This record gives sequence, structure tokens and C-alpha cells, in this order.
Amino acid sequence: MHLLLSFLLLFSLSYTVLSIPTISRPRREGRSFRVEQVKRSDYVAHGPAALRNAYRKYGIALTDFNGVDLEDFEPLEVKHSSAVAGDQDTAPGSDQTGAVSATSVQSDVEFVSPVVVGGQNVSLIFDTGSADMWVMNTKLPESLLHGHTAFDPKKSRTFHDVEGGEFNISYGDSSYAYGGVGKDTVSIGGATVAEQTFGLPTSVSESFTEDTASNGLVGLGFSSINTMQPGPQKTFFDNVAASLDEPVLTARLRSDGVGEYEFGRVDQRKYSGSLVNISVDASNGFWQFDAGQFAVGDGPLRKVTGRSIAIADTGTSLMLASSDLVQAYYREVGGALYAGSVGGYIYPCKTDLPNLSVALGNKFKATIPGSFIHFAEVGKNKTTGEQLCFGGVQSNEGSDMQIFGDVFLKSLFVVFDQRGPSLGFASPT
Ligand SMILES: *[C@@H]1O[C@H](CO)[C@@H](O)[C@H](O)[C@H]1NC(C)=O
Ligand SMILES: *[C@@H]1O[C@H](CO)[C@@H](O)[C@H](O)[C@H]1NC(C)=O
Ligand SMILES: *[C@@H]1O[C@H](CO)[C@@H](O)[C@H](O)[C@H]1NC(C)=O
Ligand SMILES: *[C@@H]1O[C@H](CO)[C@@H](O)[C@H](O)[C@H]1NC(C)=O
Ligand SMILES: *[C@@H]1O[C@H](CO)[C@@H](O)[C@H](O)[C@H]1NC(C)=O
Repeated sequence: MHLLLSFLLLFSLSYTVLSIPTISRPRREGRSFRVEQVKRSDYVAHGPAALRNAYRKYGIALTDFNGVDLEDFEPLEVKHSSAVAGDQDTAPGSDQTGAVSATSVQSDVEFVSPVVVGGQNVSLIFDTGSADMWVMNTKLPESLLHGHTAFDPKKSRTFHDVEGGEFNISYGDSSYAYGGVGKDTVSIGGATVAEQTFGLPTSVSESFTEDTASNGLVGLGFSSINTMQPGPQKTFFDNVAASLDEPVLTARLRSDGVGEYEFGRVDQRKYSGSLVNISVDASNGFWQFDAGQFAVGDGPLRKVTGRSIAIADTGTSLMLASSDLVQAYYREVGGALYAGSVGGYIYPCKTDLPNLSVALGNKFKATIPGSFIHFAEVGKNKTTGEQLCFGGVQSNEGSDMQIFGDVFLKSLFVVFDQRGPSLGFASPT
């Protein structure tokens, strides 16, 4: 009790670090490798699709997407889609309802990074929420490769197949990749692994073929959730760790363009104040930590009533939090409403959103500026003609975990640290 009280007191006094220990700054200059994380030029944020993708990835039931629409809410039509139009009457539980079919929309992932596989340069998504690496390749039918850079194993002198190897990963119920397994030299920002195992899909879902900005994924979760047979196989991060100065991957995602991932060192120039070290529970294969308290704007700190566990997922766009947090947040947003047909909270786009603060591991208070929570236009008010927007923070629908994706990560400098394992958090510069 005493501890809790003093924590609350500290919390109310400080906007940044709540207590030690902090991570000591490295003194030596060692091996480290930087890679740009590029905001996709073709990226059109679509909130309901991003939410659907996140629910699918984590097997969260889609409870409300088929709910009754608010009378005067007119959702945006999704354009580049064969699957969307006129599905309004589709039975509950179907994937193809309303304006929110996920297969109809490109991947919700905003950033890609260049990776060199067997000497060939391909843009991949870095995903700390999964542990398989796979690359679109010439074993896929040519018709599916339009607009993609396909890895060609025949053009690599270092590639070899893994005899009998198989992988089959599904990111929820409709997005998947499966096929054979191979090994080749993989290099990210100059950090090189000679015999990295990765999947060479012979089949991928439409969501991946449509998404021409990306040619696959680099899973950076814990190797225990790798799906390969024989397996589990080690992630790139696990393989490269021993050759790094420090076994870390840092992420500085930026809302306005090019961010950076860096393997091997914690660059002091990328953050201000202290870096706070929070312990990670890797038992589920995720970068999982405790995030049990929050504050809206200047309001008081409150405890979430749902599960306080959260994971840091670079491969998810939105921040999915405990539903009581989400309700409390939108209560402070003028004109915000829950819209069943898009499964989430909407609000007039002209409204300024309040900041949201979250206590991480009861040590660090991360403040997500309201402007980062503003996600994308989602429709309009039929009565007033006002534009309505979809919030970047949405409910995790009572799931076991809160999923803290890019909306959250963009407001921080984050260190994925294999020692512990642990996560370091600081205010970015
Ligand atoms: C549309 O605007 C009216 C008047 O401001 C408001 O009462 C209603 O809740 C709004 N509906 C939506 C879906 O925002
Ligand atoms: C890979 O492509 C990226 C972006 O197109 C480029 O910046 C990078 O220099 C390329 N790297 C190599 C090794 O070709
Ligand atoms: C891949 O796994 C899913 C279940 O996760 C299964 O339904 C599907 O049949 C598998 N596909 C192949 C080709 O093994
Ligand atoms: C939101 O947080 C930022 C710091 O991240 C602060 O500068 C700003 O004043 C806050 N805005 C409000 C409305 O509290
Ligand atoms: C963070 O804490 C863990 C223990 O939870 C420890 O093993 C690790 O070395 C710490 N990291 C740093 C950079 O101090």
C-alpha cells in the first residue's frame, strides 16, 4: 500500500521517469547497424481495416463490426476493392461486411525497411509481434507477383533449401503465408547472418499480394513462436545477437516519415532523459510487459480493470487497450461515439484529442500526444456533413493482452533488449 501511494505521488509529480533503475549508457563504440524504416508512399490509413487486421492477428473475436450503424453515420467507401461493394447485408460473422473488409484493403502496416537476402534487396515489414521471416519469391505464381520484388533463390549462390522444411503462418483467420523453407545470407543495415532460415511461400493471402510496398516479414518476436518445421527456427535478431556490441534492437518510429531501427547499440542521441528498463515476460513469445495504469489529459491516474498485460508490436498500426481505458479516453473527446459498423470509436475530425498517458511497468509514464491518436478519416455525419475520424486507440475487446502498436510506439524511443529480456523506454529526441 505504502509503495503504491508513493508511486502515485511520484507519478503525479513527474511526467517522465518514475523511479530507477535506469539503463546505464554504453561507453564503448561497437558493432551496430542501422536501417531506415520508410513510411510507405502508397499508404492510405483505413482505421476499421487496421483494427480488423489486428483482431485477426491475435484471434480476437470480431464482435461488433456487424453491429447496427449509428443512424447518421455514413462510412467512407473503400475504393481499391473488389470485395467491398454492396456487402452490407452479409450475415454476421462474415468477413465481408460494410465498408470494412480487410482483404479489400492493403496491409495496415505503415512502414517497411530494406533487407538484403542472398544479395537481393527487398522491402520487408519488421514485426515484433511474430517470429517468422518470409519473403515473396519466384516460387509464387507470377500472377501474384505484380508490383513486388520477388527473391529469386536461383540467382543466389549462397541459398539452399531446407530439405522437408515447411512453414505455415496465419495472422488471424484470413491472412496467411505457407510454403517451403530455405537458408541464405540475410543482411539488415549491414548486420549479417550467414545461414538465416526463412520461409519461401508458395501461397500467400490476397492481403499480401495486394500490398505491393512489402514483400514479406521479418519476425522479431521470440523464437519460441516461430512456426517452421523443423523448428522452431531462430529469428534474425536471435542469430545476430551474439555478434552485436549489445544484444539490442532499438526502434525510433516516426509519424512523419523516415524512422530508424538499429541493431547492436543504444544511441544516446535518440532519446532525452533517462532510459527506463522494464522487465519482459517472454513466455508467450511476445515483448510483453505490464501497463496497468493510465491517465487521460491532465486527469488522475487510474488502474485498468481489464488485464494489464501489454505487448509492443511494430507490426500493428493501432493501439488496442483495455476497454475501460478506451471508454474513459473517448469520454473526454467531444462528439465521440462508438460505431458498431466499424467496430470502434469515431469523432469529429476537427476535435483536438487529449493526450493519453500509460504507466509502463509502473516505472515510466509514456505520454502519447493526442495528435498521434488521430488515425484516419472514416466517414461523415449525414446530418451535419461533418467529417468523422477513426481513433488510433481502440478496445482489445477483453482479450488477454493489450496490443500496443505504432500509434503507441511512435511516441517513444524503444529498446528491445535480449538481456532480461527487457524493454527500455524513453522520450525520443
Ligand atoms: C451528427 O451530428 C449531430 C448533431 O451535432 C449529433 O447529434 C450526432 O450524434 C452526430 N452523429 C455522428 C455519427 O457523429
Ligand atoms: C536497398 O534499397 C534501399 C531502398 O530502395 C536503398 O536505400 C539501399 O541502399 C539498398 N541497399 C542495397 C544493399 O542495395
Ligand atoms: C496452415 O495452418 C492452418 C491452421 O493454422 C490450416 O488450416 C491450413 O490447412 C494449413 N495449411 C497448410 C497448407 O498446411
Ligand atoms: C500533451 O503532451 C505534450 C507532451 O508530450 C505537452 O507538450 C502538451 O502540452 C500536452 N497537451 C495537453 C493538452 O495536455
Ligand atoms: C534490464 O533489466 C534486466 C533484468 O530485468 C537486466 O538483465 C538487463 O541487463 C537490464 N538492461 C540494461 C541495459 O541494464
